Amino acid sequence: MRDLRFEAVRPDGDDAVCSDWQYVHNLIIPTSPLSVDEIRARADRNRLNVSYHGDTLVGCSTVRPPMDDQATATVIVRVLPEHRRRGFGGQLYDEALTTAHEIGARVIETVVLASNEEGLRFAERHGYVEIDRYVLDGDTIPFVDLRLAEPAG
Ligand SMILES: CC(C)(COP(=O)(O)OP(=O)(O)OC[C@H]1O[C@@H](n2cnc3c(N)ncnc32)[C@H](O)[C@@H]1OP(=O)(O)O)[C@@H](O)C(=O)NCCC(=O)NCCS
Repeated sequence: MRDLRFEAVRPDGDDAVCSDWQYVHNLIIPTSPLSVDEIRARADRNRLNVSYHGDTLVGCSTVRPPMDDQATATVIVRVLPEHRRRGFGGQLYDEALTTAHEIGARVIETVVLASNEEGLRFAERHGYVEIDRYVLDGDTIPFVDLRLAEPAG
């Protein structure tokens, strides 16, 4: 059953929604914290959503719109640790994937920190395969890029 509510971060929108997106992002990706100004700039290019169960903040998502001649979009979902393993990640993912297709994606990729075993397992269970692994300047933990495998047939 889908029981989450989704709010979009808008470049000139509600500060509380932007702060909630920031809180989830920076808690889960402490190696690359983003300021509110950086998030507003990203909201101009990307679809950034915050998800709530009732009034409780549960997670956030990023959909980077289709790029390159393959129309590759990037979908990332994040659920706060205390709300995991209840199906919320799956709901965020379904919503983000629908958005990616609505805005024209033909290929879907995601990116997960290599230290995040739950995230890697989640991506693989949803049909993603690793395509690249790299360490950004100043970081120590690699990022893993994964691509949604073509459906068989
Ligand atoms: C990956 C992530 C989004 C998963 O969030 P989640 O809310 O735990 O996801 P779900 O609940 O839908 O699924 C997780 C597990 O819980 C299980 N589950 C789902 N509903 C359940 C329920 N009601 N009771 C018990 N288990 C349940 C799922 O089967 C799945 O099990 P598995 O890992 O053994 O296959 C979360 O761990 C996260 O934010 N990680 C950091 C960010 C990240 O790496 N994102 C991935 C990039 S897309």
